[in-house]
Amino acid sequence: MSWENFKTHYHPYPELGLALDLSRLPLPADFLSSQEEAMQKAFTAMAELEAGAIANPDEGRMVGHYWLRAAQLAPTKELRSAITDTLAAIKAFAADVHAGKIAGPNGPFTQLLVIGIGGSALGPQFVQHALGQPAADKMAVHFFDNTDPDGMDYVIGQIGEQLGSTLAVVISKSGGTVETRNGMLEAQAAFRAAGLDPAKHFVAVTGDGSKLDQVADAEGWLAKFPMWDWVGGRTSELCAVGLLPAALQGLDIDAMLEGAAAMDAATRVPVTAENPAALLALGWLFATDGIGAKDMVVLPYKDRLLLFSRYLQQLIMESLGKELDLEGKVVNQGIAVYGNKGSTDQHAYVQQLREGVNNFFVTFIEVLKDRDGDALEVEDGTTSGDYLQGFLLGTRDALSEKDRWSVTLTVPDVSPRTLGMLIALYERVVGLYASLVGINAYHQPGVEAGKKAATGVIALKNKLQAALAAAPGTDFTIEQLATQTDGNPELVYKILHRLAANGKLTETAGDPWFESTFRG
Ligand code: PA5
Repeated sequence: MSWENFKTHYHPYPELGLALDLSRLPLPADFLSSQEEAMQKAFTAMAELEAGAIANPDEGRMVGHYWLRAAQLAPTKELRSAITDTLAAIKAFAADVHAGKIAGPNGPFTQLLVIGIGGSALGPQFVQHALGQPAADKMAVHFFDNTDPDGMDYVIGQIGEQLGSTLAVVISKSGGTVETRNGMLEAQAAFRAAGLDPAKHFVAVTGDGSKLDQVADAEGWLAKFPMWDWVGGRTSELCAVGLLPAALQGLDIDAMLEGAAAMDAATRVPVTAENPAALLALGWLFATDGIGAKDMVVLPYKDRLLLFSRYLQQLIMESLGKELDLEGKVVNQGIAVYGNKGSTDQHAYVQQLREGVNNFFVTFIEVLKDRDGDALEVEDGTTSGDYLQGFLLGTRDALSEKDRWSVTLTVPDVSPRTLGMLIALYERVVGLYASLVGINAYHQPGVEAGKKAATGVIALKNKLQAALAAAPGTDFTIEQLATQTDGNPELVYKILHRLAANGKLTETAGDPWFESTFRG
């Protein structure tokens, strides 16, 4: 790890307050130049995307998340107005909620329940956790991001007596995602059980004409905000999906947008050596051989960035994890992403990183600002923040010594502007990397496959319940029920066993276990 190498591969961007360090990747001297032609093609594809090309060919749609923070770049007047009008509507709505002009039957809204999943939850969760100040936030934010009944009960329990002061924002681009639909129904039931009219508490963020849009209209919800087909779920943090919850929480959404716009301007430059997104994409290409040969471990040394690894996991894995390339060839692309935070993880899996299987590279995220206010000296002249940096730098060295690779991203602080920059940086790295390896980053056929499979399971469950209800008191074996319902016996067993655990039917244990019987 020579100083000369560091001088070559450390890239500060003073105008952004950010720095990228690729010096702990053993990049051959000619690596960047060997990729220059491919990178220029990636820049061209990105410029076409930003100009409004149909960059998601499978779904026949434009990919316009970059316009969200620079509306003047959107290709039509209608799109420009849609962006600016929606931003104004979000701010006005949040201001009215904060002023109590929009209030519930029990008075001003103090609690916010966000209901969504995937791209309609991970961005809002990341931002809420990173920037929240419980004593200063205008609203306390809670999330339903699953169809786990106990998980939802837990959140409703946390809200407790304050349900009457709760505003619920249901977010779904498609408006048909089952987990979100279930969350909405469960929340509405909780409101009704507390004697409250859900329509007076609910807001929708969704595509025009979607099922959710229709429900919001039919029930007369408080407000609706649009989600456009040209914004993908995992790149939707800077449209109403992320901006509405953030504005309601009282966060500075203009600063988030400005940070993203500044990063976009810096990463739009088609000069590889000057462009942090291009350099990072090439770092990924080298580290993973362009085939996902190494996993990416994301280690922010900052508690507030804990959810960044989860946010990036979706952004990167849902975008890059693809079976086919743009020519239809099977490539099974992707980069596995996991992580949590340092130095906490040093007491968990970092042991394996240093000494175990060498199948990863680390992304360290260093935050320069320690805290607001004075720092306690935990030893003479030394603070907790000094230790945090000590652990980061020490772990980087400890990994490098053992030929474990890393990149380091240094950011000034955890602020709305920095979050905007981080979001925009990684959105563009993903787009450029996808071009380099020749895949469509903007569709998600694998997610759709999972949704279809779940529908089949529910259909089989309904058939099983109907079969048992038609013969009350009769014991059936798994195989009998599988034959009767034309179901896969393994699925039949799994469904029945869970229904029995929830008191919906009776299971009599067999010996061996697969001779167990079930009765309705
Ligand atoms: O990034 C994506 O496209 C997905 O993760 C979606 O955000 C997720 O499936 C939720 O979809 P929707 O917003 O339509 O409910």
